[in-house]
Amino acid sequence: MPIPKGPRFGLGTTLSYIRNPYGFFERSVRRYGQPFGCHTMGGPLVLSGRPEDVRDIFRADPMIFEPWNTDVLKPVLGSNSVILTSGTQHREYRKLLIPPFHGQRMRSYAQRMATAAHDCASKWHEGEDFRAYNFTQSVSLEVILDTVFGVTDPVVRSGLKALLPELLNLGNGLPMFLKFLRLPVVPSWRRFIAVRKQTDELIGQLIRDRTSSDDRGDDILSMLLEAEYDDGSRMDESEVRDQLLSILSAGHETTAIAMAWTLYWLHRHPEKLNRLLEDISEQAPTGDPEALTQIPYLDAVVNESLRIHPVLPDLARKLCQDAELMGCKLKAGTAVGAVAFLTHRDPEIYEDPDEWIPERFLDRKFSPFEFYPFGGGNRRCIGAAFASFEAKVVLGTVLRAYRFELLDNRPLSVERRHITLMPRGGVRMRYHGHR
Ligand code: HEM
Repeated sequence: MPIPKGPRFGLGTTLSYIRNPYGFFERSVRRYGQPFGCHTMGGPLVLSGRPEDVRDIFRADPMIFEPWNTDVLKPVLGSNSVILTSGTQHREYRKLLIPPFHGQRMRSYAQRMATAAHDCASKWHEGEDFRAYNFTQSVSLEVILDTVFGVTDPVVRSGLKALLPELLNLGNGLPMFLKFLRLPVVPSWRRFIAVRKQTDELIGQLIRDRTSSDDRGDDILSMLLEAEYDDGSRMDESEVRDQLLSILSAGHETTAIAMAWTLYWLHRHPEKLNRLLEDISEQAPTGDPEALTQIPYLDAVVNESLRIHPVLPDLARKLCQDAELMGCKLKAGTAVGAVAFLTHRDPEIYEDPDEWIPERFLDRKFSPFEFYPFGGGNRRCIGAAFASFEAKVVLGTVLRAYRFELLDNRPLSVERRHITLMPRGGVRMRYHGHR
């Protein structure tokens, strides 16, 4: 059962995949068609962006899959993370995690998301240059601290604000990939252990305080503490901690990147920005955050940014048993991946796929195998509704209130950040004061 033909995954291919993933996907498809196979350091991998192959992956029995190459995340996320588990355990965790992220629940977070956007924007001075990504990252962290962790104590809050981004950064260091470097003499590993210990202490305290208090908030942590397995039992402290860090790591940078791209594209196309501003002044004249989320053009703008630059360009899972998928008989141990970048740029689905045209999302509905920035099947993003809601509130709020100029007014390439792809350089902008 050989895998389909594809590029030889030597050092050169690995580097090209890491440095220029778009180029790697495009060259592979031109040469080998889809699906194509590669031999990676993590074992054989079969990739495709054809909707029928994507459907095969997302519709397959979830029990035939386990996460692929996620061991590197274990030191940060912990072994109970929903991202790292598979089979029944993974299904159980999703059952506990999905309800707090239900679309309806997001409405109660709208005002706090808008406040976070204004608070972070209030640090700008007129004429000042900034990177859109740094701004959206700060907003997204504030939102997670408010709505997921529910931290109100200023000391705990400033502690977590300093520690969490550092933990995520250290979690991308070499010792995560090369286990033999996990030694106290290696400075980055030593620092990682120290930061992880401090973070665990703060989160542990937060969990214990919340458990012992009668005053539960409407934050996601409070809901996770109340969530019950089928037998009526609840997650213990270490399970809750691992889910919190998984939510943070899956939700913080992804949402920030999506918002930064959207700011970039809107300012590259001033006519689209003007149309959006008109729609905002008609459909959400007071800037009411919830009303912003109901504006169809704002939704289309966010979706089009996620289409043209999916934050995670490919989504892989490993087969834990032999299976027939994408027209190939594959052996256990082979990984299969849906390449959102290829699907989202397929000219058969999207006319002028390299152009940013939000209107296409008003004219047509795309299937979950044609447009899937949040993945699909049993691993589909738990925070999809949350992320899209937040992007609309934050972008609607700042665009309505402030004026910006794009300083990177040229095509931007992508830059790898952990497993995500962000706009290279972070989108340089200038702040021009209130509208
Ligand atoms: C624009 C922002 C976001 C994007 C593009 C995004 C994208 C994704 C993708 C592609 C996956 C993997 C899906 C798959 O393998 O099929 C995923 C998983 C996940 N995402 Fe998101 N995400 C975003 C925001 C969020 C937010 C805000 C949260 C939570 C607050 C979140 C929580 C998760 C979790 C927990 C998983 C793991 C699900 C599992 O393994 O069962 N994400 N996300």
